[in-house]
Amino acid sequence: MPAIEQLPAPNRTKPLFSPSDATVIFVLGGPGAGKGTQCANLVRDFGFKHLSAGDLLREEQNRKGSEFGDMIKEYIRNGQIVPMEVTVQLLENAMKSAMDHENKHKFLIDGFPRKMDQALKFEEAVCPSAFTLFFDCPEEVMQQRLLERGKTSGRADDNEESIKKRFKTFEETSMPVVNYYKEQGKVVWVTATAGPDEVYKVTKEKFAERGIVPTSSTTVKSS
Ligand code: C5P
Ligand code: MG
Repeated sequence: MPAIEQLPAPNRTKPLFSPSDATVIFVLGGPGAGKGTQCANLVRDFGFKHLSAGDLLREEQNRKGSEFGDMIKEYIRNGQIVPMEVTVQLLENAMKSAMDHENKHKFLIDGFPRKMDQALKFEEAVCPSAFTLFFDCPEEVMQQRLLERGKTSGRADDNEESIKKRFKTFEETSMPVVNYYKEQGKVVWVTATAGPDEVYKVTKEKFAERGIVPTSSTTVKSS
């Protein structure tokens, strides 16, 4: 990718895609709220393309020759939000690729937007969102899950010190995004304290209320 100030997406003032080109659902929740787990369920049953902002950043961090690698690493370890230009561009690239090569047009964008500037820039330059799916979970539960995950995830930020910083960033920087969309009536709010099956059941019910149903039930042939 070119230097940060030359990235095309953040410099655009009109969205590249309209809601008729692509459906974008943002998926938010504190670290360990279960976003990735629930996205996997939704991909299986609803045919969404899952794009995790954190995964895309980790991929870019590890890409040989990336000029952003060291910077991304530092931000992630400290639980801070990477400058939005990079994340918005990575998401746009991934969306384009899924549309061109996989014929996918419905996206779950997981772990994004984590900060107001990301939200505004993405909707201004890439694509307006349909709504935000928010998984609400108490910190004690999330911490327990992250420490458990940390035993095998190999992630540099699934440790007690980084987790504390991630919680703080979430409260101070990401919750305002959830509240911004909530004021617009654009949040599907799911309590995510229970186990994955129960949370998924509620998620499906709330999607159904918005007219979003599993792909299999939309492709039933009439006889
Ligand atoms: O979502 P995930 O927990 O994988 O994100 C890991 C880290 O990636 C975050 O703590 C943050 O440092 C970075 N990130 C970001 N902006 C996003 C998503 C993730 O800076 N929208
Ligand atoms: Mg995740």
